[in-house]
Amino acid sequence: MAYEVKNEQLRKWVEEVSALCEPEKIHWCDGSQEEYDNLCSLLVKSGTFRKLNQEKRPNSYLAWSDPGDVARVEDRTFICSLSKQDAGPTNNWMHPKEMKETLGKLFKGCMHGRTMYVIPFSMGPLGSNIAKIGVEISDSPYVAVNMRIMTRMGKAVLDVLGDGEFVPCLHSVGAPLQPGQKDVPWPCNKEKYIVHFPEERSIWSFGSGYGGNALLGKKCLALRIASKIAKDEGWLAEHMLILGIESPEGEKTYLGAAFPSACGKTNLAMLVPPDNFKKNGWKISTVGDDIAWIKPGPDGQLYAINPEAGFFGVAPGTSAKSNPNAMASCASNTIFTNVALTPDGDIWWEGMTDTPPAELTDWQGNPWTPGCGRNAAHPNSRFTSPASQCPSIDPEWENPKGVPIKAFVFGGRRNNVIPLVYQSFNWSYGVYLAATMGSETTAAAVGKVGDVRRDPFAMLPFCGYHMADYFNHWLQIGRTNPNPPRIFSVNWFRKDANGKFLWPGFGENMRVLKWIVDRANGRGSSIESPLGWMPRHEDLDWSGLDSVTREQYYELMSVDRDVWKDEILSHEELFVKMYDRLPKEFLHIRELILSGLWRSPEHWEQIGEAAAEGWNE
Ligand code: GTP
Ligand code: SPV
Ligand code: MN
Repeated sequence: MAYEVKNEQLRKWVEEVSALCEPEKIHWCDGSQEEYDNLCSLLVKSGTFRKLNQEKRPNSYLAWSDPGDVARVEDRTFICSLSKQDAGPTNNWMHPKEMKETLGKLFKGCMHGRTMYVIPFSMGPLGSNIAKIGVEISDSPYVAVNMRIMTRMGKAVLDVLGDGEFVPCLHSVGAPLQPGQKDVPWPCNKEKYIVHFPEERSIWSFGSGYGGNALLGKKCLALRIASKIAKDEGWLAEHMLILGIESPEGEKTYLGAAFPSACGKTNLAMLVPPDNFKKNGWKISTVGDDIAWIKPGPDGQLYAINPEAGFFGVAPGTSAKSNPNAMASCASNTIFTNVALTPDGDIWWEGMTDTPPAELTDWQGNPWTPGCGRNAAHPNSRFTSPASQCPSIDPEWENPKGVPIKAFVFGGRRNNVIPLVYQSFNWSYGVYLAATMGSETTAAAVGKVGDVRRDPFAMLPFCGYHMADYFNHWLQIGRTNPNPPRIFSVNWFRKDANGKFLWPGFGENMRVLKWIVDRANGRGSSIESPLGWMPRHEDLDWSGLDSVTREQYYELMSVDRDVWKDEILSHEELFVKMYDRLPKEFLHIRELILSGLWRSPEHWEQIGEAAAEGWNE
């Protein structure tokens, strides 16, 4: 032991795990820079890491994973509550006793020939009363160094923990080494289990070394386990970015936005306003890009913190044009996973520059040239960067009290159906719109890409209990709050008949944010639509944007009656699955939206125009 550990519970657990997994050595992480550098050197030696060009990418490394271990594995993710009912119809379930038997066999001796790292970490600022402490045991040094960026990690966490409670997170890549056997650069196992025991508040993960499967503070603790704790304690653990918007007058408004994986959270959180907005004094700042913990404050308002300390961001599509703040964040001290390597020891991915380099080594280590027909970087390739390196980081980002939230925004990736933006009529309508959100699947999870599925609150893969109980919890938060945040729906991904995005997105999303801020602060005009309040063309600030015509805006905002009849029927699919616990409000709201679709104007194809001119004409 490198330092004294007072927590008896922790010492006992580490002993038990060591007896089960039989590692060659135990390493208690202290979280120091020296330790980080040593582990990185070790990873270079074992072939997991390649040190990048020190001039171009200081203190940065590149890892290529096993091609069978590139994303979260939702069908191997389990919520093992005592009763199946409590996991709900949207989670995989097995009885905890049966699961422990299965896992016990897999973990027996699974760390042979490896070092077992004990990684104490805090989700949330160290010592804050909102923070939660976890300890991850992992046989992956890649996990240890990523955890140092993504969380507050090391000995200081144990000093704060004292003899208090922590969430035990056990992780193994599931690849024991026989004596004399040489290790592979990315050990993992074909068989994978990402398992949560919500009553016991513990996590067991086997077989994968990638992202949310292995960095257990992130989706496993800060969402699946925390969502259950939040339900019990009256707060919210959400798959949301948190950003601040400062007006020219100096008014600061914070909002939380939930989009499914790879649907734009990091990009919106780091938005750079268009030139005209910048010139007039509008500023955007970043509090978090993936997870928000939100609690009612003493004044009744909701306050949000970012429990993470780093970004595990999607690489492809990130460029100096689309997200300069992300590019600056990963300029140094960064771990890249599954991106391509340039001949001079830097990195590249699709969309980073308009013209790809003439030659590269792709994420599988093969020679790559433009037009060869393969991706240079994996679509779910990522950068792990310290949040403190982000130029737009908000001065309050580590304030343990959190930032006051005025609006919640929900958005999926929908090439049709959903308008660019609208505001729900009230909290319950807002909960309904978030609960019935749909999105096309992405490369962030293993499986087919591009299918529309219901992804309530962008939490389908991350809710640690029955989804209908989660809806009720959200309704309850609104009932007990005299002035809850306003709720909005957005869709940056609507396409025209030729499959081209109708909305330029990225920095231009500022125009939508400004309207949202105005509405959330009780200003800003709008008109009533069957779905909620919508901005007319004249209600948005178009200065400096010529590429979106008025007709295009109508198309972006259109609500097609026949398409919406189908959309509402597809809400039913979700509802029948969880009918026994579904909030009764939902059935009424569904009826109200449906009846709204039969209002004038008669010619529903013209609804886009109506959105701009007024619905009742
Ligand atoms: P996770 O880290 O998986 O939770 O993803 P995320 O929600 O943070 O998504 P991210 O911001 O990384 O965006 C994912 C992809 O969506 C990238 O390829 C972006 O280029 C693309 N994207 C983000 N914002 C926009 C937008 O406004 N319009 C369009 N068309 N694409 C966008
Ligand atoms: C997501 O999939 O939503 C991510 C990446 O943010 S992972 O950490 O793998 O969950
Ligand atoms: Mn995410």
